[in-house]
Amino acid sequence: QGSLRVLGIESTCDETAAAVVEADAAGRGRILSNAVLSQIAEHAAYGGVVPEIAARAHVDVLDRLIRRALDEAGCALADIDAVAAAAGPGLIGGVMVGLTTGKAIALAAGKPFVAVNHLEGHALTPRLTDGIDFPYLLLLVSGGHSQLVSVDGVGDYRRLGSTVDDALGEAFDKAAKLLGLPYPGGPKVEQAARNGDPERFDLPRPMAGRRNPDFSFSGLKTAVRQEAEKIAPLTVGDVSDLCASFQAACVDVVVDRCRAALRVLADQPKPPSALVAAGGVAANGAIRRGLARLCLESGLRLALPPVGLCSDNGAMIAWAGLERFRLGWTDGMDFVARPRWPL
Ligand code: KG4
Ligand code: ZN
Repeated sequence: QGSLRVLGIESTCDETAAAVVEADAAGRGRILSNAVLSQIAEHAAYGGVVPEIAARAHVDVLDRLIRRALDEAGCALADIDAVAAAAGPGLIGGVMVGLTTGKAIALAAGKPFVAVNHLEGHALTPRLTDGIDFPYLLLLVSGGHSQLVSVDGVGDYRRLGSTVDDALGEAFDKAAKLLGLPYPGGPKVEQAARNGDPERFDLPRPMAGRRNPDFSFSGLKTAVRQEAEKIAPLTVGDVSDLCASFQAACVDVVVDRCRAALRVLADQPKPPSALVAAGGVAANGAIRRGLARLCLESGLRLALPPVGLCSDNGAMIAWAGLERFRLGWTDGMDFVARPRWPL
C-alpha cells in the first residue's frame, strides 16, 4: 500500500473543523492542513453551547473551511483517497451538518466514505503525533467524557472505567461558571490557578484509592461551591486560590485513577506501550505534569498530543478515518448521525 490521504470533517460540538492528513507507506502520519473555526464567541453570551446556534454556525462556515483545508494541503479532491466525517457522539444538529457534507463530497467525487466516532478520533491521535503502538492506556478527558480505555487496536477498545456523574471538562466548566469565569471554563480555571494557592482549600479527592478506575467529579464541584459560599464575596485572589485548589484535586484524582487502571492492566499478557492522554482537558498543563510524574515513576512512555490537537479538530477525524480506511473499513451513505455512541 502506498501513501494515503484523507479529508476529515468535525462538527460534533462547537468547533467546525476540516483537515487533510497523509500516511506514508510505513504508516507514519503527517498533517497537511488543519483548519479550525471555534464558535466560542457565538455561545459565550449564553454561558454554554446552544445546539441550534451551533448547527447553524457549522452550516455557515463548513464549505469554506473544507475549501481552505484542501488549499492549504495543496490538494484537489481528486488527490484524496477517502472522505471521513465525525458521525457522533455529539449535538445531533451539528453532527448531521458534517456527516451529510462528508457523504455528499464523497458521493460527488466518487471517493470512499468513512464515518468516524469522535472519541475514536481523540483516542487515535497519539498514533498520528507520536507513532504509538497498540496496546496503550488511554485517558480520555473532554467536556462530555472521562474514561480510561485500553486501546488494543483500531476499533478495539476496552473501557476500564468512566465517570459516574460529570465529565472532567464539565467539572472545570461548572466550577468556572460558579466562580464567575467566562465560558469555556477549563482554560480560564487553569489561567486563574497560576496565581493561586493550591493548598488553601481542602477539597475532596473523589474515588481516590478505589480499585476500579472510575471517576466522579460532581462532589468536587459542590465542594468548590460550598467553599466559595463560605467566603463570599470573592476577591480575585480567592478565585485564584479556589481554582488552584480545584485543579490540584483534579490532578490528584486523575493520577490516582490512571494508577488504578495500570494496576488492572498489569495482569494482562501484553503490557501497555504508553499512557496516552486525549480530549480537551488533556491540554491542561497541571494535568500534563501530573501524568508526566506518574509515567516517570512507573517507567511508562507518555504520549501527549500538542495542545492544539487535544481539543476538537479535523486532523483527529481525518487520521481515525485513515486508520479505518487502511483496514478496508468504509461506510455507506445510509450511515446515520449518532447523538450517543460509546467507544
Ligand atoms: O475535547 P473537547 O474540545 O470537546 C469535547 O469533545 O468535549 O473538550 C472540551 C473541554 C471543555 O470542557 C473545556 O473546558 C476543557 O475541555 N478544556 C480544559 C482546558 N482546555 C479545554 N480543561 C482544563 N484545562 C484546560 N486547559
Ligand atoms: Zn472532543
